[in-house]
Amino acid sequence: MAIRLKTKFTLTTALLVLGVVAVVSSVYVVTLTRQSVRQADERARFVAQQIFLQAQHALNDAAEQGAAPASVRPEDLREYVRRTLEESAGLSGLIEAALGYSPTIYEVTVVDDAGVVMLSSDASLPSRHTPRRTSFEQLVRSGFVEQLRVLYGPQNVYEVNLPFNLSDAPFGEIRIGVSTVFLRGEITRNLQSAVLLVLGAVLLSTLLAAAVSHATLRPLEKISAQLDRITQGKFEPAAPAALLAPIPSRSAGDEGQSGDELAQVSTKINVIGKQLQDVREIFSTLRENMAQVMAGLEDGLLLFTADGRNVLASPSVEKFLGVKPDALLGRRASEIFPAEHPLRAGGGLRMEGDLLERVEGAEARLGGLNGSPAERERRVGVSVQVIEEGGSRMGALVTLRDLDSLERIGSQLEVSERLAALGRVTAGVAHEVKNPLNSMRLWIENLKEAVPQEQEVARQGLKILDSEIDRLDRVVRTFLDFNRPVELRLEETSLGELLREVVAVAQPQIDKSGVHVSLECAEDVPPVRADRPLLKQALLNVVLNACEAMPDGGRLTLAASAAGGGDRAQVSITDAGRGIPPEYRGKIFQLYFTTRPGGSGIGLATTFRIVQMHGGSIDFTSEVGQGTSFTIELPGSRPHGAAARARENVHAQP
Ligand SMILES: Nc1ncnc2c1ncn2[C@@H]1O[C@H](COP(=O)(O)OP(=O)(O)OP(=O)(O)O)[C@@H](O)[C@H]1O
Ligand SMILES: [Mg+2]
Repeated sequence: MAIRLKTKFTLTTALLVLGVVAVVSSVYVVTLTRQSVRQADERARFVAQQIFLQAQHALNDAAEQGAAPASVRPEDLREYVRRTLEESAGLSGLIEAALGYSPTIYEVTVVDDAGVVMLSSDASLPSRHTPRRTSFEQLVRSGFVEQLRVLYGPQNVYEVNLPFNLSDAPFGEIRIGVSTVFLRGEITRNLQSAVLLVLGAVLLSTLLAAAVSHATLRPLEKISAQLDRITQGKFEPAAPAALLAPIPSRSAGDEGQSGDELAQVSTKINVIGKQLQDVREIFSTLRENMAQVMAGLEDGLLLFTADGRNVLASPSVEKFLGVKPDALLGRRASEIFPAEHPLRAGGGLRMEGDLLERVEGAEARLGGLNGSPAERERRVGVSVQVIEEGGSRMGALVTLRDLDSLERIGSQLEVSERLAALGRVTAGVAHEVKNPLNSMRLWIENLKEAVPQEQEVARQGLKILDSEIDRLDRVVRTFLDFNRPVELRLEETSLGELLREVVAVAQPQIDKSGVHVSLECAEDVPPVRADRPLLKQALLNVVLNACEAMPDGGRLTLAASAAGGGDRAQVSITDAGRGIPPEYRGKIFQLYFTTRPGGSGIGLATTFRIVQMHGGSIDFTSEVGQGTSFTIELPGSRPHGAAARARENVHAQP
């Protein structure tokens, strides 16, 4: 249980006061006891002295009045004294008064030298022999503890003795009995008032301590509340003036500062709170920017602290590791990449405990996500940068890169660039070739008329020249057709419908190869804005290739679906044909690349160009002997966001 500072302060003060009071009280009790015992002794002695004097008076008075003992025998003398003392009114008055005013005196007795009582405050005692009691002197001399033991033990009566002579011979003694119970009563009475006083003092000091601690600790409570607000991020400056004031420095003359130390602390906390809030705002802005930047990254990024804990993972990490980035945060490097992990076992990552070692451009192979064999194996580029500052390790950054798709993108870019360059050159060349060709054709027509019928060889030569010029003309026309800027006639088009038309056109080839077609069209495929004949041509080229890849029949699947969160439409054309060998994969979109006898290598190049003109993209996966799947993605005609921007770019293209 946590005790509040205020309570602690009050309790400590109360305990301190109690301690001091206890010490003082002990000393007081000791002094009081010793003093009471000594006073009782002095009083008893004083009373004995008084009685002695009074007895002397009584005897003198009796002698003056002519009284005398019957004889000089000791018995008569004793009897004379006893009677005289007994009859003395002054003496008995004195004894009564002594008992009355001295609370500790229990008994007053006068005995003769044989110990027989002559006179006593106890009426039953006279003429009886009484033994001496313990001397009070002994109690006076004993130590404090012994005194307490006696006083608070069973009742006991001590005696103060005063022997006296008669005619210079010892005659008797005066005994003053002092009761321990009476003495105790007297001490206790004095103590009672002292105890009340002590209790009052402790109570008062506790109340005072509580009030003082409340007053002094109040600013601390305010500061604590201030700190609470700052930690919860709900900081609001207490007083603007306090914020503007410079932080009071320790060296500055403290007397000159307004407010006490606690007020200064409060001001400083205000300033720190403001700074903290600024830092927090900057941090959250940075984090947002960072998240945006990372969301757009194709590469997977993982940042680890100096002790190997993950503090940052980009969204695309999921593509490589099959785990959501959030699930990686805070985990150790050795948990994320256990020894048997393909990225480590394959020689990509090197680690010692949780510490990643520097790696540059290593290559590893990752199987299907979560080990699913359906996904093909991928080549992944792995780099680890160790971040150091001043020679000490600050952390490590792991970069994962999908090398396959990178190569594909690279080759597609290359194809686009080459097509563009080729377009520029061939357009010029074809134009230049076309004119001489036309003039050559004209001259051949003239020659045909001029050469007589019987010159068989010449006429045959002219025929060959004519057909060769035709062939050249066709080639030049294809060149020009391919590179001529096309004016797109865009209209809202349903991909499902378009695919059905494509299948109808390709029906002869489909039947010839014995291919079985299945068409799957999802309900949510967004319509696209497309030049119908062109897009149909593009899809047809892919379908024809698929049929040619399956000369002995097989399944051809055409599917249309939504992509990019519904902004885009996607068509996939999947065959179960011979597949594309890896060495050809970078070339199939190139103009005139063909492996098919009788093929011209124009089909896919045309498809690529048409898809590009529509602001779309084309990609494929292929497995030799298993089949090939082409995927064409096109922006939807009613895009919400990303696709809209892509379309604007398409319009801007020449
Ligand atoms: N589905 C497929 N399966 C296997 N190989 C394919 C497939 N599609 C294309 N190819 C390969 O890509 C090459 C280029 O194809 P492209 O369509 O551009 O030319 P082509 O079919 O050879 O000739 P054409 O110009 O008459 O279409 C093909 O020769 C073939 O090797
Ligand atoms: Mg083809």
